[in-house]
Amino acid sequence: PATEPLIRAESLIRTIPDYPEPGILFRDITPMLADAAALRAVIDALIEPFAGQFDVVGGIEARGFLLAGAVATVADVGLIPIRKAGKLPLPAASVAYDLEYGSAAIEVHDDITPGMRVLLVDDVLATGGTIAAAKKLVAQLGGEVVGTAVLMELTALPGRNVAGEVHALFEA
Ligand code: PRP
Repeated sequence: PATEPLIRAESLIRTIPDYPEPGILFRDITPMLADAAALRAVIDALIEPFAGQFDVVGGIEARGFLLAGAVATVADVGLIPIRKAGKLPLPAASVAYDLEYGSAAIEVHDDITPGMRVLLVDDVLATGGTIAAAKKLVAQLGGEVVGTAVLMELTALPGRNVAGEVHALFEA
C-alpha cells in the first residue's frame, strides 16, 4: 500500500493536454520534484525493491537524470549518465532504436565495466524503446541490469513487452 507521502507525490504530477503536440497528454513532474517530502518518498520507493543489489545507477537523459542523481546519493552508489547521441566527449558505446517516426540512439562511456550491477532509472515508461536500448547498452559493456525503476508507466502502451519487468511507482 502506498504511503501518504507517495499518494501526495502522485497528486503532484500534473497532466497537461496537447503538449508538446495536439492529442498528447504530457505528465509534468516538476511540482512533485519541488516538494521535499514527495521527492524523498519517490526516491526511497524507487530504490526499495533493489536496495543493496546494485553498484551504480544508470540515469537516462534528460528527465531520468533528475531522479537518478538523488537515487544514487541516497543509495550510496555512483551515477552513470546514459545520454542521447552526440553528447559525450569520448567515444562511447551506442545503441540505436526506433521511434514512432525515425530513430534515436543512446550512448554511455565505458564507466560501466564487466560485472557491474546497474539499476536503470527514468521518469516514464511509454513504448519501452528507451529502456530496451539502455539494457542492450549495459550488456554491450558487460554490465548486468539488476532492475529498472520508473516513476510512471503509461499502461495503454505495451512498454513491458518491449522493456521487460519494470518497477513503476505510478500508472497512467
Ligand atoms: C521520455 C522519457 C523516457 C522516454 C520513454 O524521454 O523521459 O526517457 O521518453 O519513452 P519510451 O518508453 O517510448 O522509450 P524524452 O525522449 O521525451 O526525453 P527527455 O527526458 O530528454 O525529455
